Amino acid sequence: MKENISINLKNAGDFVSHEEVIALAQQSVRHLDSLNRGTGEGSDFLGWLSLPDDILPQLDRIEKVAKHLQSVSDLTVVIGIGGSYLGSRAVIEALTHSFNTFRKEKHHEIIFAGQNISEDYMSELIEILDIRSYTIVMISKSGVTTEPAIAFRILRSHLEKKVGKKEAAGRIVVITDSKKGALRPLADANGYETFVIPDNIGGRYSVLTPAGLLPIVLSGIDIRMLIKGAKSMEQITRHNRNAVSNPSLLYAAARNLIMRTGKTTEIMISYTPKLHYFAEWWKQLFGESEGKDGKGIFPAAVDFTTDLHSLGQYIQDGQRIMFETVLSVINPCRKLTVPKETDDSDQLNYLSGKRLSEVDHNAEAGTILAHHDGNVPILILSVPELNEYYIGQLFYFFELACAISGYILDVNPFNQPGVEAYKKNMFALLNKPGFEEAGKKLRERLK
Ligand code: PA5
Repeated sequence: MKENISINLKNAGDFVSHEEVIALAQQSVRHLDSLNRGTGEGSDFLGWLSLPDDILPQLDRIEKVAKHLQSVSDLTVVIGIGGSYLGSRAVIEALTHSFNTFRKEKHHEIIFAGQNISEDYMSELIEILDIRSYTIVMISKSGVTTEPAIAFRILRSHLEKKVGKKEAAGRIVVITDSKKGALRPLADANGYETFVIPDNIGGRYSVLTPAGLLPIVLSGIDIRMLIKGAKSMEQITRHNRNAVSNPSLLYAAARNLIMRTGKTTEIMISYTPKLHYFAEWWKQLFGESEGKDGKGIFPAAVDFTTDLHSLGQYIQDGQRIMFETVLSVINPCRKLTVPKETDDSDQLNYLSGKRLSEVDHNAEAGTILAHHDGNVPILILSVPELNEYYIGQLFYFFELACAISGYILDVNPFNQPGVEAYKKNMFALLNKPGFEEAGKKLRERLK
């Protein structure tokens, strides 16, 4: 690919000057250095930095296992939550057909589970699985996360009843830590195929490990091109100490400077529903990495033009606490024009012959100008087109920017201590052994 994703700071210029951004980005080279040297906080979790090379020896096995699962089923249930599902879902939603009902020949369907505890969701999924031939990929680094663990227990038992324990064992793949957690012994005891999420890679940085790559390749997407894209962005950013040409440094600096002006919410915007889950992945990456010690930019996301008819009013005119990062996809993959009508009864002939992408790009440009006039700083990330290569670039770009941004904020971007609070309460309320006393106290509070 000739082009790269690129960042445009022009529409933030009234709020933070280009010079200020360059200055903070240049100062932040020290954070890039500490990432590369492993001297910053959370340095046990830096395996993602070199993943575009380190993962290569595993690709043959990932592809082989995917082929096996495809050969015995036409549907895989991928079980996982947070970083163990959002990366693969982001890529699959971005690069496969928008409509599930439209199946190409040999299309392998992916359904996600274990990302909620909804009885209705699970029951309706079982209705589908009763009549479909399916396989399971269970992903949990810790191997003890409640949501996916419950889903796995239910579906394992469903599959065993349906095809027998022996056949089920050949249809289940487990992706987890190399040693810790309940999943590893369970997989070993049942003879399931397994992959490892390395110790030094946290969930939200794990999309280029088997946790992301197996579901992605199962759905027919070229993981080698995804990694090639990530590698190209590594080459552009990782050792580039010249801030002006390092988009990850510029983005990290710009968003922190904007936050310091009181704009504490960052909204990720895209104009294609295909990027909805990419924004979900981004929200988790930045939300869990930065939101701690009373600090952090709140990451939100909207799908335009859809949400211009719901949240557009607030963004234009409500509390002035937001800035935007627009994922601007330049070229659509397909072509469709507005037809001409002789009587022009719907008064749309001024658009006839125009491609929908032209209309969409004008909606985007018009919205950027309007929001800018409404006191919203806007960063624009141009993405030449939606394909594996550029999604790979985006992953590496944001991962590196997030780590640098966390260091600018002076937080450890690689832990998530706050996630434990709800879990402790849930365990106590459910009388998990060891949590009974805490449960009594919480029940009192709920009266
Ligand atoms: O980024 C993280 O580490 C988390 O969001 C985890 O991915 C999430 O909590 C799921 O954890 P696990 O993979 O251990 O089930």
